Amino acid sequence: MDKIIITGGKQLKGNVIIEGAKNAALPIIAAAILADSPSVIKNVPPLSDVHTMLSILASLGVRSSLDPDKKEICIDPSGIDSWVAPYDMVRKMRASICVLGPLIGQFGKAKVSLPGGCVIGQRPVDLHIKGLRALNVHISVQHGYLEADAPDLQGATIFLGGRFGSSVLATANVMLAAVKAKGTTLIYGAACEPEIVDLAHFLNAMGARIEGAGSHAMAIHGVERMHGVEYNVIPDRIEAGTFIIAGAITQSNITVNNIVPDHMLALLDKLAEAGVPFEVGKDYISVNARSCTFKPIELTTLPYPGFPTDMQAQMMAFMTTVPGISIITEKIFPERFMHVAELLRMAADISLENATAIIKGGYHLSGAPVMASDLRASAALVLAGLVANGETVINRIYHLDRGYFNMEEKLRALGAQIERVPS
Ligand code: EPZ
Repeated sequence: MDKIIITGGKQLKGNVIIEGAKNAALPIIAAAILADSPSVIKNVPPLSDVHTMLSILASLGVRSSLDPDKKEICIDPSGIDSWVAPYDMVRKMRASICVLGPLIGQFGKAKVSLPGGCVIGQRPVDLHIKGLRALNVHISVQHGYLEADAPDLQGATIFLGGRFGSSVLATANVMLAAVKAKGTTLIYGAACEPEIVDLAHFLNAMGARIEGAGSHAMAIHGVERMHGVEYNVIPDRIEAGTFIIAGAITQSNITVNNIVPDHMLALLDKLAEAGVPFEVGKDYISVNARSCTFKPIELTTLPYPGFPTDMQAQMMAFMTTVPGISIITEKIFPERFMHVAELLRMAADISLENATAIIKGGYHLSGAPVMASDLRASAALVLAGLVANGETVINRIYHLDRGYFNMEEKLRALGAQIERVPS
């Protein structure tokens, strides 16, 4: 397994260009199944998660081709001949569950393996089941699979809020089935993430009729047919936020390009509170953190537009270097703290009280061999390695490759002393 070696202490300088959003691309790739002609999806990062989704589509008979240089995918759903997404593929990636909705919308039936848990916590699917049952889908768990039969898909009024708030992929799955249901579906408590809005834009371009995406109340008027389209995926707000924190934690001046600042307001609010100087442009953010002193912060992760759980680990790495006491509460995935043990190995001072981390920051981090776990925890370890004394070796970086394309090359181009060592 590849690893990354970082020698900390280098200041960064220059520009980085952000990729398309993984969490927008994955449901959009699945949604291409609903069309009766090919789609071309652009600005798609050639990540391992994208390859996994394409291999699941291939197992359904959907041909696709990914041009890694142009970062675009052509998907031809005309050969689709199966509605079964097998365990050995789905277990690799939780997001595979978003083939459930389009298979139901296209075939009226689906058999999708349950994704199982992962290091950030148990990943229930009760809201997916609740939403699809409301659309007159007969769905149940059989031998580790979600088995769905929908001979007569009917629009319905659904409340989709769960005990942790809205669910991104449950909202996506209900959208992906409802676009082909008879009548209108109203989803209350819908997820408002920019990736959901991007999915709605893609579906509407294909001929769907969706209103209210981005709000907690969405209306979906069912249609008979949908056609393939050419579509550009939005930029990745989480990759962008990760590089902005790379600029802050190393007290550097860098510019993060090809982004939508309006998708990052909660993060920018917290960075401003921490005293990070940055300039917001139309499609870029410039961090000017040379010789800055920062302040500790308190934050709680929430569904969008709140502070994103996918930026929690990266913010924690930053706060370990800021003098004072910072408090981070994780409300979306209360167990999402795999990065804490590894940061402690780097001499961070963090204590956990249930879903709250108390960070006593300002001590120098010390480079060490550490283990990547989930993809955002891996990014946090990279950020810590950039400023730690000495050498940090991050093992199992296939976790990082799931969500970050050429991260080490981008950081090296900014001046970091970082290299990937093949196993
Ligand atoms: C999406 O996962 C993202 N993944 C995650 O990003 C992200 O952390 C998460 O949304 C929250 O923003 C993709 O989009 C591919 P949820 P998703 O359903 O949809 C609970 C990354 O690092 N819940 O919004 O699976 C759930 O346990 C990944 O890129 C139920 O209770 O997450 C959690 O506590 C990690 N019942 C909360 O809702 C359900 O049926 C939010 O989860 C479904 C979810």
